[in-house]
Order: sequence, then C-alpha cells, then structure tokens
Amino acid sequence: MKSVKKIELHLHLEGAAPPGFIRALAAEKQRDIGGIFDARGAYAYRGFDEFLRVYEAATSVLTGPRDYARLLAEVLAECAEQGAIYAELFVSPEFCGGAELSAWRDYLAAMEEVAAAAERDGIASRAILTAIRHFGPERARRTALCAAETAGGWVAGFGIGGAENVGELRDFAWSFDCAREAGLGLTAHAGEWRGPESVRDALSLGVARIGHGIRAVEDPALLRDLAERGTTLEVCPGSNVALGIVPSWSAHPIARLADAGVRVTVSTDDPPFFHTSLSREYQMLADAFGWAEDEFRQMNLWAVDAAFCDETTRTRLR
Ligand code: ADE
Ligand code: ZN
Repeated sequence: MKSVKKIELHLHLEGAAPPGFIRALAAEKQRDIGGIFDARGAYAYRGFDEFLRVYEAATSVLTGPRDYARLLAEVLAECAEQGAIYAELFVSPEFCGGAELSAWRDYLAAMEEVAAAAERDGIASRAILTAIRHFGPERARRTALCAAETAGGWVAGFGIGGAENVGELRDFAWSFDCAREAGLGLTAHAGEWRGPESVRDALSLGVARIGHGIRAVEDPALLRDLAERGTTLEVCPGSNVALGIVPSWSAHPIARLADAGVRVTVSTDDPPFFHTSLSREYQMLADAFGWAEDEFRQMNLWAVDAAFCDETTRTRLR
C-alpha cells in the first residue's frame, strides 16, 4: 500500500524503541535492566502485565533529553520509511524519573528540534503527553500541568494509557479539564481491556478520540453514539492480536466498527513489542478483509480530520 500516504495517530514513543537501541543505551550507561530480551534479542513478555513491566524496564534507560531526542530521530525515520507523512507520539513524562516540569522543558526542547528537522524531511509529528493510569491521578496531574505549560507547539495533546483495569477514568477528570483548558486535543485508552462502559467513561471526559476502543463493538447503542459524534478510534489491530485481546486478524472487530459508521484509523501502538510495522498492519488488513486503496485512503482522511495539529498542517496533509 505504498501509494497511500499514511497517518499514524497512536504510537508510543517509548514503546517504539527498538530493542537494539535500548540494549545499546543500557550498555553505554552500564545499567542492568534484567532479562527483558529473548534469545533473538526481541522484547520478551507474556501477557499484558508482563508487557508493562518489560516496557517500564526498557524505558528506565531513557534518562535525559539527549536519549529522548535520539530515540525520536530513529522513530520518525522509521515512520517515514513506512510511508507515513504524519505521526502523533505518546510521550510519557511519568517514565524516566517523574514529571518535573522544569526538566521536561529541556526534554521537549530537544525533541522539538528533532521533530522540526524531520518535518523538513517530509515527516511531520506532534506529541501527546500521556499519563499512566496505574501510576494514579496525582502523577497524572503533574503530566497534565506539564502538557498545559508546554501546549501550543509540538505538544498538541494529552492522553492516558497504562493498565485499563486499574482505577476509574473519572479519577483523572481534573487532568483532562486542565489539558482541555490549555487547548490540547484529548484522547484516552479505553475499550481495549475493558468493555463498552469504559468507552462511555472516556467519552464523558470529553475526548475526541479513543485509543483502541474496539470493545465498543459489543454495544450497538454505543456504536451509534460514536458514529453520530464522529469520535475517531485509534485502532491498533496488530497490538490487539499480539496481546491476545482478539484471537486473530480475521476476528478483529475493525471491519464491523467501520461498517457501523464509526471512524476507524490504523496505528501500531508499540511496533517492536508486537513485531509489527505500519506497512504490515495495512497488509494484514488487506489480507483479512480485502481492503484496498479506497478503504485505506478513507481511513487516512479520517485520521487527518482527527489529528491534533494546527489547521495549516491539516490542510497540507490532505
Ligand atoms: N502503553 C503502551 N502500550 C499500551 C497499550 N496497548 N495499552 C495501554 N497502555 C499502553
Ligand atoms: Zn497505546
């Protein structure tokens, strides 16, 4: 699907770190990050809880602005290689030693420089500062404040990821209100591990997009609501299959969601963890559902509509 200009709305910067990058950084810093790799050097985990533990261990070697800048440069180069013209990256200040607002200005400045250079080379990007649900509402507040303070340039959104089965989304309402008042776009992981009620919880926070959201398929009234509102789902089929949320590509609900009139888009979540890439996601969807250029073009138009970038950039992406 080389001819389709791809938009990636759901990509965790830390989760996109190639294992080799993390291994090299750990060696450079002489840090022992434990047995997080398999014999072939890939990330090794079984189940979501272990995935989160391995993810956090890998992220622990990203300790300064330079590490984040180097990682971003690699990740954006890979996005371009996959045929993407725009990517939104979830960046989580709650990793790498906590969200000190002053420190994060330096991290973001370093990343913004890389993003500007990449944009000149043809791959535009924005950041969604992202709270980690299982770290709790207090740390999320600091991330929201950090997002609000840095809003306007590269930082274009606020979101929440992490363990969906921990706590309730309403406990994070203060953070979402804070981010909304700062003019940021809002998204929340929901309907990945929990059912339709979690998607409703996300909607009640005022989000325009939902990370995953696939279990909305279990509730026809919710599907109608999502379709009417024009809420965009950031669907990551390869992630869902790899984590065992759906048993196979052909069983993935993305086609049923699209048939119900819901705006679905396709992203990769944490590609090296799930042995996937944007091109592979498109290929697997083409194989599973017979989707071709028209379907992918439509999805990418929805993605452009839902992007948290400024209007000038949006016009350029169309
Ligand atoms: N953080 C990184 N990947 C995630 C996922 N699939 N679900 C929730 N949080 C995440
Ligand atoms: Zn995610």
